[in-house]
Amino acid sequence: MANFVRKNQTVQTTAAFGFASAVFAAAGLLLNGSFGLETRALAESTPSYSTDIVPILSKNCLACHSSAAHMSGLVLDSYETLMKGGKHGPPIVPKDAMASRMMQMLEGEAKPQMPFGADPLPASDIALIKSWIDAGAVGPVAGEAVKAAELPPVPDIRPEVAVVSPISSVKFSPDGKVLAVGGYRELRLIDAATDQLLAALSGQPDSVRSIAFSPDGKMVAAAGGAPQIGGEIDIWDLASHQLLKTMKGHKDCIYSIAWSPDGTLIASGSYDKAVKLWDVASGKELRNLQDHIDAVFAVAFRPDGKRLASASQDRTVKIWDVATGTRLYTLSDASDGLTAVAWAPSGEQVAAAGYDKTIYIWKLAENEGHLSQSLIADEESILELVWSPDGKTIVTASSDGAIRFRDLRLNPIGVIDRQPDWVESMDMSPDGKWLAAGRYNGSLSVYDARTYKQVREPMTVFDAHQPARGNDAKEAASR
Ligand code: HEC
Repeated sequence: MANFVRKNQTVQTTAAFGFASAVFAAAGLLLNGSFGLETRALAESTPSYSTDIVPILSKNCLACHSSAAHMSGLVLDSYETLMKGGKHGPPIVPKDAMASRMMQMLEGEAKPQMPFGADPLPASDIALIKSWIDAGAVGPVAGEAVKAAELPPVPDIRPEVAVVSPISSVKFSPDGKVLAVGGYRELRLIDAATDQLLAALSGQPDSVRSIAFSPDGKMVAAAGGAPQIGGEIDIWDLASHQLLKTMKGHKDCIYSIAWSPDGTLIASGSYDKAVKLWDVASGKELRNLQDHIDAVFAVAFRPDGKRLASASQDRTVKIWDVATGTRLYTLSDASDGLTAVAWAPSGEQVAAAGYDKTIYIWKLAENEGHLSQSLIADEESILELVWSPDGKTIVTASSDGAIRFRDLRLNPIGVIDRQPDWVESMDMSPDGKWLAAGRYNGSLSVYDARTYKQVREPMTVFDAHQPARGNDAKEAASR
């Protein structure tokens, strides 16, 4: 379950842009204040492309305008491609900075302001570029040692930067070697040992909200879809990265999928309140399980595959018989919407958590379940819950900024606090050694699940993207 807070997202995005323009206003003041000084200093020596301009572009622009990621067709890693420009043609008019599109975009006169989604460049950088253009925008001089533009490291996983796709799902492959990460319109496969990017699989119309691997590790499925339009599950072959199947049927986006232990079925839970079972071989919808009266945020198969649990905004967990599609019973102890559900590896218990900050554990029998543990565990809504593969630990991520580890009596045994942003998705490697956490700010961390220490620096997995305009999702959905 991940990324169920789409209303908040809109708010956050707007807030971020408001913030950016406030910062720009401040930078504008600075520019006016220090301008006399800048121009005097600059007049003495014309800025050089190689020593003055390249470092600014490398630092602030190549994340989105390189030969690997060329937004709007613009590649800024060589003088030739910079002058050639992107979709709108040459962005620079030599000797006329004010008429240059790039300058207008840096100053916010042409929208969107660059660097896109981040704070504007410091006034001194803007002044340097301006004076370089006004002096003729001369390229690298023959024989001059051109400071090679630093491309983002290949694969394109960069240290944390400001605006990128939130990570909306993470999942380890059954052998633990691949970490699949879902973001805006893309599923990325990363080598879990080295962080190397193995593949970027695109095709989803919006955020990839849930990921499932086939139990034999040969296929990977990504689910999501466009809000209010429809859900979509895409299945790829893991070795060839070929798209094998696309399954549609939900009337709204899918928040969670699970692959049955015998490999034949995929279960999905959607904002449209339905739970569906899909036949993987034919790609057909097998059953539509309707009993929830609000969005379904999480689904999970019992380890033997015979039962399915679904958790909903309607505050309940429902237990279904997979073979017949009948609802067996409802667990209705929670006092607010549930965002996550997980089975104990033994299949005898199920845990769920959500907006009421509480972890619930039920002990299940054939035709009923009763609450065996519950604890107001976190200070704010619980966004994700994972039951460790050895069955001994329950891990929650809360919007209070902490990841907490508890034993089965729900006593705290460890905490990773001060998360830089909401952890909307987590997964533990099948051997129980690592915990992967994907955040709203687009960063991914892998922790040692025993020492709670970060294994490597957090990484930003996705290229920055333009926030969807009103009709984007619709267009994508009607491809
Ligand atoms: C986070 C991603 C991102 C970063 C960083 C970024 N840009 Fe952009 N840039 C974009 C996107 C997206 C567009 C397309 C905007 C549109 O067409 O609405 C764009 C368009 C442009 C264009 C217009 C190209 C054309 O012909 O359409 C220019 C010029 C530009 N950027 C310059 C820069 C410069 C200079 C920097 C660094 C100071 C920078 N950008 C940093 C994402 C980015």
